[in-house]
Amino acid sequence: MCGIVGYIGKKNAVPILIDGLKKLEYRGYDSSGIAIYSNNHIIIEKSKGRLTNLEEKIENKNFNSHLGIGHTRWATHGEPSDLNAHPHTNTEETIAVIHNGIIENYLELKNFLESECNIKLKSETDTEVIAHLIDYYFEGNLLDAVYKAVHRMEGAYAIGVICKNEPDKLIAVRKDSPLIIGIGENENFIASDIPAILKHTKNILLVENNEFVEITKDTIQIYDNLKRTVDRKPFEVTWDIESAEKEGYEHFTLKEIHEQPRAVLNTLNHNLKNGKINFENLKITKEELQAFDKIYIIGCGTAYNAGLIGKYALKKFAGINAICDIASEFRYNDPLIDEKTLVICISQSGETLDTLQSLRLAKEKGAKILSIVNIVGSSLTRESDYIFYTLGGPEIGVASTKIFTCQLLGFYLISLHFAKLLNKMNDDEISTYINELTTIPNKIESILNNQDQIKKISSMQFNNESIFYMGRNIDMEIAYESSLKLKEISYINSFAIGAGELKHGTIALVKENTFVISFATQENLFDKMVSNIKEIKARGAHVLTVVKESSKNIENLCDEILKIPNTFDIFTPLLSIIPMQLLAYYISVMRGNDVDKPRNLAKSVTVE
Ligand code: M6R
Repeated sequence: MCGIVGYIGKKNAVPILIDGLKKLEYRGYDSSGIAIYSNNHIIIEKSKGRLTNLEEKIENKNFNSHLGIGHTRWATHGEPSDLNAHPHTNTEETIAVIHNGIIENYLELKNFLESECNIKLKSETDTEVIAHLIDYYFEGNLLDAVYKAVHRMEGAYAIGVICKNEPDKLIAVRKDSPLIIGIGENENFIASDIPAILKHTKNILLVENNEFVEITKDTIQIYDNLKRTVDRKPFEVTWDIESAEKEGYEHFTLKEIHEQPRAVLNTLNHNLKNGKINFENLKITKEELQAFDKIYIIGCGTAYNAGLIGKYALKKFAGINAICDIASEFRYNDPLIDEKTLVICISQSGETLDTLQSLRLAKEKGAKILSIVNIVGSSLTRESDYIFYTLGGPEIGVASTKIFTCQLLGFYLISLHFAKLLNKMNDDEISTYINELTTIPNKIESILNNQDQIKKISSMQFNNESIFYMGRNIDMEIAYESSLKLKEISYINSFAIGAGELKHGTIALVKENTFVISFATQENLFDKMVSNIKEIKARGAHVLTVVKESSKNIENLCDEILKIPNTFDIFTPLLSIIPMQLLAYYISVMRGNDVDKPRNLAKSVTVE
């Protein structure tokens, strides 16, 4: 998804912008660009492809400027190209704009600019209309012109604007796309996300929806939609840039897979006090919980898969039958929601548009929102009634790994807490499960310390054209997540299926040497899985089965057995996903893929 960064201060803006854009690379992009003010001119440099292309372009130009904006673009309107890359300008190039989001009424605005103002647009982007509109309204005051232009726009946007006629100012606006301000000394910053500016300041101001910001090197003034001043207190970021760097790992994805013991431990410790659940931001009362007659769980991608597993935990521990839905389906499916509904939203970024819009829809209908989120201060957290923070730290790799396990942990803790509030379990029973959860970080560590088998399997399978996954119940959900992980970073054709569904069609695909990964970690379903394994073995499949250490011996039946440490059946996803993440990772590396930034994908999907 697009990333934006802006600088105003005493230093040279150019290296600050480029460095900031590098920190936003994880969001996914196909082109990049900067606009700076220098010698009474706005200078624009942009380039298709990797940021290094832009760097090469400006390498010998010795730019020096105290004011600039930069952008990484993820194409929505118009193909990736130098021309469509941001920043965009008005015809005279006195105003430059960067934008993350989509202007939904862009065609109407384009028609207006072309027919009424005789303006010829250069690019195919929706963003260019913003620059021309601001110019159209500019009468000597940039902030006023931005207000007028933005009031004509519909859609989602985080925008940064600079103007040749007001070179001491940077204007920013936000609606439904992330935007933060970094406060420095004699310098200030804007960005889509904190890592872009963390090197320079830890003092952050959040910009809310429909707010406008006027920034000089010494001042920051936030205004609401009606231009009334808004007071906002900054907060200090507690994590540092090192935790967002690779720390010797070849890829962020590998580093993040290895960070799981710590991420799970942090999330656990933060929510326990003297061995009992103690939530900081999730103060739901027994009466409030009892008042809900329906619980939805929604998310996208990996977050949705975590929700599928969360559904089992809510049922097992709290006796709650929740409905789990993909956010992009939920919002267009006329969900039955009222004030007796609780919607649990799951999101690493807290900015995924479909999840956010589902939240808003649910709120409009009176529902209460509980969010499981990683990014503090993200849109989701600001619009939720109750929050569970996954304390996994920044996740840079596009493939979600450590935050998935933290999301699962969140569900287990929330479900146990609900069980207590609803008197479904007594303290001793809850303690037994919590004690087991405290052993999980070490168990993950032991899997991470024994990667030889997974590396060997990866080297045997990395050239495969398709890999299938199967399981039953909670193992089926982990099959979905394992398959998603493989697809997104290896580009191998893959699907996952409930093993009982095989003979209803999919088994037709199984032939000699089809590689199938099966999960048989659930004791009550073990024999059923054995039958399914036999079915596909009889058709020549090459079967790898994931089992618990204490499992019955099925080595003669399978080609490979992968053992995970023993734990309660309900907690096995916390362990069984680890070798599957590693498998996807090593296969991706062996295929020569860009593991951290897989093709066509963005870390944070802030458009529909
Ligand atoms: O930031 P979110 O958790 O809301 O993102 C949701 C999905 O876009 C995300 O999980 C995506 O599926 C990942 N690439 C999966 O690894």
